[in-house]
Amino acid sequence: MTQETILLKLGGSLITDKSQPGTARYELIERIASDLATTLYNRTEIRLVVGHGSGSFGHIPASVFGTRLGVRSQEEWLGFSTVWHQASKLNRIVVDALRHDGIPAVAFPPSAASLANNGKIEKWDTTSIKSALENGLVPVVFGDVVFDRSLGGSIVSTEDVFVFLAPDLQPSRILIAGIEEGVWEDYPACTSLLKTITPKSFKKLTSPISGSVHTDVTGGMETKVAEMLQLAQSLHGLQIRIFNGSRPGAISEVLEGKNLGTLVHA
Ligand code: IPE
Repeated sequence: MTQETILLKLGGSLITDKSQPGTARYELIERIASDLATTLYNRTEIRLVVGHGSGSFGHIPASVFGTRLGVRSQEEWLGFSTVWHQASKLNRIVVDALRHDGIPAVAFPPSAASLANNGKIEKWDTTSIKSALENGLVPVVFGDVVFDRSLGGSIVSTEDVFVFLAPDLQPSRILIAGIEEGVWEDYPACTSLLKTITPKSFKKLTSPISGSVHTDVTGGMETKVAEMLQLAQSLHGLQIRIFNGSRPGAISEVLEGKNLGTLVHA
């Protein structure tokens, strides 16, 4: 059987209440875990890496301390530690939910093993992540603080993590689950959903494709789509899908090949 590696992001807007600091959406996380367990049981060809955002956990202290822009003073390093703590708290909630449903999840925090330069991951020995996948485990990565060669410290988003891991793990698909149906052509009116985005169509977009009323230190939808487009251009055949993961069963449907939301491809 041919194995298929998939990187799945559970967005911070999906798994946390972004209007309430440090608030996880436990029921939804548990439901997603149970959907994932069923899919992995039925589709043994899928090798899954779960990534998750930080939502109202990491973004709030990250914005207070300006952590993404660099970490120098003692106060900023205390802020770095606070963001780390918040991000890893949410990670524990996600990993606990996955394990509760029998998914053999193992966390790989970027802060512990990667090194960045100017906000981009530069080094990370991914041998252990590959070994976890080969042995049927489900690696869990997340948006996290990182030590950074030029900025002292910084923050990487889950998409930044995927950009680093993808050339090594060679996924056929990257799935990004949030609370929007996909990418809107006319945010905030949200009447016209983009079915596909290619580098060419992205350049032609005249209005901003999203905005966020909540604190988002890693750039929001537009930055993340641009980053995913670049990745799709560098990895032949890679398909990236941005969709709404809040409806029961939606994540399983997309994992099993249903075309929900917006497809980003080269
Ligand atoms: C943010 O990661 C990381 C921190 C603020 C610590 P993401 O950019 O992946 O998170 P969301 O999806 O926007 O919440």
